[in-house]
Amino acid sequence: MQMIDRPVVALVVAAGSGSRLGGEVPKALVQIDGRPLVRWSVEAMVAGGCQRVVVVVAAPLVDDFRAALAGVSVPLQIVVGGARRQDSVANGLAAAGEQGIVLVHDAARPFVPVDVVRSVHEAVAQGAACVIPVVPVIDSIRRARGVSSHVVDRSELVAVQTPQGFDLATLRESHEQAALQGLEVTDDAAVCEAAGHPVLLVAGAREAMKVTEPFDIHVANAIATQRRQMAANAFQENP
Ligand code: C5P
Repeated sequence: MQMIDRPVVALVVAAGSGSRLGGEVPKALVQIDGRPLVRWSVEAMVAGGCQRVVVVVAAPLVDDFRAALAGVSVPLQIVVGGARRQDSVANGLAAAGEQGIVLVHDAARPFVPVDVVRSVHEAVAQGAACVIPVVPVIDSIRRARGVSSHVVDRSELVAVQTPQGFDLATLRESHEQAALQGLEVTDDAAVCEAAGHPVLLVAGAREAMKVTEPFDIHVANAIATQRRQMAANAFQENP
């Protein structure tokens, strides 16, 4: 039987307020080693094999994002987001096409490695409805209730990253169902799971950290500088 490749579209959500980062520039437009954070995230999706990108942004910033993303090498559409992350994803899905594979990615994760992006959409291409990258939890964890707390076995826990990959029609239907049920979620795997679809875990990477607090900007700049130096060294060895 001939396998027909399904198109892979990236839906990059960047409409959050970024209030935990502080500062005057919106988080996704903060410069990391001379490039806006959202541009790193979009380029990561393209490098990982996405053929089209939809970027979801806050209404007053459409022109700023258009400038930040000028010249990206695949077709790119900018749409306006909503009050909650799930509203922003729903708006993006309306522009993502009918059929195929969709990778929903937080703009706040600029350095997700190419291997992670590929493994997510390849698992969807092989038939999974919902695929998420995860990393082990490294800190000890306690559940806190007021002044009392108790330990939680971290060996059973994983931290969830993005991009999360889905069959596009399945994610759209799941979001419609979630809206009807008034479901509140923090990611799209939860939307699919609530609609009865199994969630497949694949290995994520520490580099796919979410830039959230001011400290994370220092880490992001260090990663970007290291990547630039590695690229320069590789060029010197093989001009
Ligand atoms: O707030 P949180 O860390 O969950 O945000 C994750 C991603 O979702 C960020 O890239 C943020 O810009 C995006 N987001 C969005 N629309 C919202 C809230 C968050 O696109 N209303």
